[in-house]
Amino acid sequence: MVEMGEITLAMLRHHQIVNKNLLDLEKVSEEDTYKIVKFFNIFKWNLNKHIFVEEENIFPVADRKNKTELKQLQNLLNDHRDIQKIIDNLDDEILDYRKPNTTILKELLFAHEEREIRSFYPLLDERLSDEKKKDVLEKLKDIKLK
Ligand SMILES: [Fe+2]
Ligand SMILES: [Fe+2]
Repeated sequence: MVEMGEITLAMLRHHQIVNKNLLDLEKVSEEDTYKIVKFFNIFKWNLNKHIFVEEENIFPVADRKNKTELKQLQNLLNDHRDIQKIIDNLDDEILDYRKPNTTILKELLFAHEEREIRSFYPLLDERLSDEKKKDVLEKLKDIKLK
């Protein structure tokens, strides 16, 4: 396997945390309303921070004149909007203390993460200068996921 680039690797680690938060939520029993709310909020907190760091720190360095990068960027941004819409709907279930059904969310989230890790981030790791990459990774440190 080809060695993973620094941005790809850093974002893969982010994804692993967010995915674990979602799996933790899925494991909670339907009666444990305290933990349903708690784990949903941790998942949402980390996912929103993750999306923030992607949209404010990483996506801006994409080359919009490059058709491949532009197309992928647009698809990823659409995914983010779709993911956030689903989460808003789940929020309503949470307010009723119901355990949310995360099947569709999980499917979309995992497919989205694959697109970033297998395709988009390797493009950036390949093209960006070391200096630019360092700037991106430096800013990424400001956003810690728990
Ligand atoms: Fe993303
Ligand atoms: Fe991501």
